[in-house]
Formats: sequence, structure tokens, C-alpha cells
Amino acid sequence: MTDDELLSRADAVAARAYTPYSNFHVGVAVLLRDGTVVEGVNVENAAYPLTVCGEKNAISTAITQGYGPGDFEALAVNASPCGGCRQWFAEFRFDRVTFRNRGQVVTMTPAELLPESFELAD
Ligand code: THU
Repeated sequence: MTDDELLSRADAVAARAYTPYSNFHVGVAVLLRDGTVVEGVNVENAAYPLTVCGEKNAISTAITQGYGPGDFEALAVNASPCGGCRQWFAEFRFDRVTFRNRGQVVTMTPAELLPESFELAD
């Protein structure tokens, strides 16, 4: 699965986002090292801060299926990831993250997205 194909999966699943408040549909596709793809969308709430980002939902689904740090190869998302999600990418040691930002498709490492990130060892 190429990064472009993974981004196409993210684009497609965005239609399932639950976004009655922002109407901003985020779709995510995570590629595990065994070839499995896990998807996620953002899920909003009338109490706005309770919203969960699509990236966290996709990663949490993979964790629920038994995957852990070291199993995550790549993630694609149809928008620029927020700061909190960048911390999650560092936690789960993705090789790379592909996203669309201002009309461009970019691929970056977690360290590029969040330099000097917090780790428990710190
Ligand atoms: N959102 C995500 O799902 N991921 C991000 O990285 C950025 C923001 C969602 C949260 C909210 O439902 C909507 O986008 C607008 O902020």
C-alpha cells in the first residue's frame, strides 16, 4: 500500500465522520507493519472539548485490536494534524505521516511534526 493509496482510504472514510458542530470531516487510515489498515474519523460532542480526533480514534482502534508501539508504519489524514495528535504519533513511533495541507500532500516523520517531543523517559 502506497502513501497515496493510504490517503485515498482516509479521504473515503471521512464521509463517516460525526461532525454536526464543525461540519469538518476528518478521515484517517493507519497502516500496520503486517499490512492491515485501520480507519478512524473525528467524533464530536455538544460539549465541544469532548470531541475525539480521527487520528486518536484510528490509533485507539488498532490498540484495541492488539497492536502496540512498533507496529505502526504509516498514517494518512485528510487535514493537517493537531498538536495533540502529533504527540500520539511520537508515542506510537510511526515511520511517517501523510496529510493534505493548503492544497499540498506532504509526508513527514513524527520528529519533524513535533521536534523535541515529550517522552516518559524524560
Ligand atoms: N480534528 C481532527 O479530527 N484531527 C485533527 O488533527 C485536527 C482536528 C477535528 C476535531 C473537530 O471535530 C474538527 O476537526 C474541527 O476542529
